Amino acid sequence: MKIHGTHYRSIWWDAAADGVRVINQLALPFALDTVLIRSADQAAHAIRTMTVRGAPLIGITAAYGLALALRHDASDPALEQTAHGLLATRPTAVNLRYAIEVALAQLRPLSPAQRATAALEIAAQLADEDVALCHAIGQHGLPLIEAAWANRGTRERVNILTHCNAGWLATVDWGTALAPIYAAHDQGIPVHVWVDETRPRNQGALLTALELGWHGVPHTVVADNAGGHLMQRGDVGLCLVGADRVTTRGDTANKIGTYLKALAAFDNGVGFHVALPSPTIDWRMDDGLREIPIEERSGDEVLTVQGLDAQNTLRSVRVAAPGSPAANPAFDVTPARLVTSFVTERGVLEPHALHTLRRQKTPAQKT
Ligand code: MRU
Repeated sequence: MKIHGTHYRSIWWDAAADGVRVINQLALPFALDTVLIRSADQAAHAIRTMTVRGAPLIGITAAYGLALALRHDASDPALEQTAHGLLATRPTAVNLRYAIEVALAQLRPLSPAQRATAALEIAAQLADEDVALCHAIGQHGLPLIEAAWANRGTRERVNILTHCNAGWLATVDWGTALAPIYAAHDQGIPVHVWVDETRPRNQGALLTALELGWHGVPHTVVADNAGGHLMQRGDVGLCLVGADRVTTRGDTANKIGTYLKALAAFDNGVGFHVALPSPTIDWRMDDGLREIPIEERSGDEVLTVQGLDAQNTLRSVRVAAPGSPAANPAFDVTPARLVTSFVTERGVLEPHALHTLRRQKTPAQKT
């Protein structure tokens, strides 16, 4: 992604600082600063606090965290313990497990002396792989937007509704759900994005709106409850969202509120498309409602909102009755029957065809 003329990834190896650098997503959109990670503990902390977030980026950060730890102790117990600790940072996005398992499969057979260098190479390879997968998702998803443009009727633009942030900030570059949108915009298709604010952490209003703006894509932030109304009015050509874990039959865990958008899309005959790289598929799970672990976060995220005050200071204010408690499930599961298609790096597939990806290995798995 280019920001003011400079190309950025969301994570990169900083050789001069001898660590991995990430964009500090807790500071966005008010400040563009970075955080240097130099240990597995710091990587775990960045994931837990959501300094980095988004399913693919969580995985890449953990892979770098593992590599950093092995520079100090690359023994078998250290390898397993560090991997275990990183896996426990966030429960829902399966990309974390993918990245750690890819790394472990290649590191376990090596001698401890070889592991640190190899682990750093694996993390870099996983990062590059993610960029390639997301770019391919963009190319495969583009025809969906072209089709919506062809069917626009009297409308002057293609209206796309998205939820949370599934852009380059959630990946290493390009994004998943936003990749086809960037591709369409770059091809001159007049796209406009309805950006769900995505309470409680507002990843839509804060991050998706920011990156669409950086790329010059017209967009409008809407309250989370607006989507159904917009669809009833015919103002949504298609919905395009990301995913944190998709089961073999296509049940899709994504940011809380995704399911309600899928229901509204179904009721209004609007296409509901899920963009994902194949590392987001959990081949060990079938029934998403029963099996996918849903992260429960602090109720404080619901009871408060954060923003800049008149003095440009970031403040948190309470927006609920004093003393009332809150529940905060961070993800929900959209059943496969509500998904029109999955936009993957290998093409656009209906839920019943998702299993055909099972035989295909990612480049990092083949190594
Ligand atoms: O809690 P977050 O911000 O990590 O949740 C992110 C999402 O739900 C994204 O939509 C999902 O990870 C897809 S990212 C390509």
